[in-house]
Amino acid sequence: MKLTTASAFSSSPDSRACRRLFVVLTFLLLSPLLLPAQTDLSGFWLLRVPTGDGNYREIFLDLKQAGETVTGKVLQGFRDLPISEGTFKGGKLHLVVTFRSQSQEQRRVTYDGTVEGDKISMTVLYPGRDTLTGTAERSKPEAALPPPGLPLPELRDVPGNGLARTPPMGWNSWNKFAGKVDDATVRGVANAMVSSGMKDAGYIYLNIDDTWQGARDAQGNITPNRKFPDMKALPDYVHSKGLKIGIYSSPGPKTCADYEGSYGHEEQDAKTYAAWGMDYLKYDWCGAARIYKDEEMQAVYQKMGEALLKTGRPIVYSLCQYGRDEVWKWGPKVGGNLWRSTADIRDSWESMSNIGFRQFALAPFARPGHWNDPDMLEIGNGGMTNDEYRTHMSLWVLLAAPLLAGNDLRTMSKETKSILLNREVIAVNQDPLGVQGVRVWQQEPYEVWMKPLADGGRAVGLFNRGEDTHRISASFRDLGISTGSVSVRNLWQGTSSRLDNATQFSADVPSHGVVLVIIH
Ligand code: GLA
Repeated sequence: MKLTTASAFSSSPDSRACRRLFVVLTFLLLSPLLLPAQTDLSGFWLLRVPTGDGNYREIFLDLKQAGETVTGKVLQGFRDLPISEGTFKGGKLHLVVTFRSQSQEQRRVTYDGTVEGDKISMTVLYPGRDTLTGTAERSKPEAALPPPGLPLPELRDVPGNGLARTPPMGWNSWNKFAGKVDDATVRGVANAMVSSGMKDAGYIYLNIDDTWQGARDAQGNITPNRKFPDMKALPDYVHSKGLKIGIYSSPGPKTCADYEGSYGHEEQDAKTYAAWGMDYLKYDWCGAARIYKDEEMQAVYQKMGEALLKTGRPIVYSLCQYGRDEVWKWGPKVGGNLWRSTADIRDSWESMSNIGFRQFALAPFARPGHWNDPDMLEIGNGGMTNDEYRTHMSLWVLLAAPLLAGNDLRTMSKETKSILLNREVIAVNQDPLGVQGVRVWQQEPYEVWMKPLADGGRAVGLFNRGEDTHRISASFRDLGISTGSVSVRNLWQGTSSRLDNATQFSADVPSHGVVLVIIH
C-alpha cells in the first residue's frame, strides 16, 4: 500500500510540479537563515595596528552601512578624515580616505578588511610608505574623544637658556628614516658624523625624531620602545664621540606618528630627558591640535619651556607647530631657541624652493639664541639635482636657518659631502652677527639675497628659479655697498677675484642653481 501510494504520488505529473514548487518555496523562505547574512558594520570600531616596535597605532572607524555602501569617517592619529570610497561586499570591506599631509601633499590611504565574526582583519596601505595589518573590534565612541585641555600657566617670559648663539647644526632622523630610526642607526650615524668630517665642520646635534617612544611605566615615566633598548647608554655613546643628542615629543597625548606624547607628563618627561642626557628637544604640536586652540599654543609651549629650564640641564628647545599663530613673535618668550616657520619639507625642488624663497618676511625675528626654522635639509636624499641641493644649502645658509642634515651620513656621495661640508658656506650661516638674510632684488624667476656679516662683508646669493641658464646681476645699491673696488669670493667655486670701479656683480647662473659669493 505504501508502495502504491508512493508510486501514485510520484508518478502524477501534477504532483511532481507541486513538489518542485514546494521545494523552491521552502528554499526561498529558508535561504536567509541558511546563508550567512551580510553583517551590518554600522557603528564604531577601534583598529589597532602593531607598528613592529611594541607600539600600536590606534585608528577609530565610525562607519555607516547602507546595503553595500559604507560611509562615515576614519579618525587617524589626531585627524577626522571622511571616507571618500567605502564598500562592503561578500564579507570584504574596502575604505579609502584622502587628505592633505603636513607638507600639503595629497595622500590616499586604503583600508581593506575581512570580517571574521565580530572582528575585522585589516590591511592599511599608506602608498609609498608602510603597509600595516591589524584587527578592528567594536568600541565605544567615547574612546575616540580627546582628553580635556590641561590648566595652562599664566603667560610670562621664560628666561633665556643661553644656547644656540648661532643656528643649531646637526642631523635629524626623520627625513631619511622616519619610523625606521633605531639605536643601531643612531650609533652608525654618530660614527659617520665624526669620520666624514661633519662634526669638525660644526654638525654637533644628533636628533632622534618621532617613533622612539614606548609605553609609560607604573609611575608614568616614559620608556623607549624596543628599537631603543637603552636610552641612557645611547646618549652616553653619542657624548663619547664629542657630539650632542636630541629627542622628540608633543604636547598632545599623541605625536604626529601616533606615538606617546607628553600630555599631562610635561615636567616628568623633561626630567627624564635630562636624566638620559638629552641636549635638545623638538616639541611637535600634532596631537595637541585636538585639545588646545591655537591661541593657547604660547602657554602650552611655555609649560615645556619652563619644565626644561627647571631640569638645570642645558637643552635646546625647538618648537614645531608649522609656523601657526605667528610663532616668531612669541617663540623667544617661551624659551624657544628655534621655531618651525613652515609645513614639512619634502625632497623635491617644488617643496624646497617654495619653502625657502618664501621666508623673506621673517628676517626681523631671528637673532642669536632664537631662529626661524624652515625645516631640515634634504641634501643627499636623491630627489633633487646637485644644483638644486646647492640652492637648498645656500638659501638655508643665508636664512641663518638651522642646518640639520636629513640624509644617511653613513653612505654620503662625494657631491653630497662637498655640499654639506663646504666650510666657507657654513661660516656664512654661523656668522656671529646672527642676522637672517633678506631678498634684495627679484624679477621672476630670478632673485638676489643678501646676508650681512660680522666683518662688514656681505654674503650674496644669485638664484635662478627658471629653466635656462641666465646672467643675473646684483647691484651694489641693492646690496648697500658703495661703488668702488671690491673683492669677490665665490664660495662654491672656491675662487677669488676683484672688481674695480664697479656698480654691480654679475654671473651666469644655471637653471635651479645659485652663485654664492662674499663681497668685501
Ligand atoms: C611632523 C613634523 C616632522 C616630523 C614628523 C614626525 O610632521 O613636522 O618634522 O617630526 O611630524 O612624525
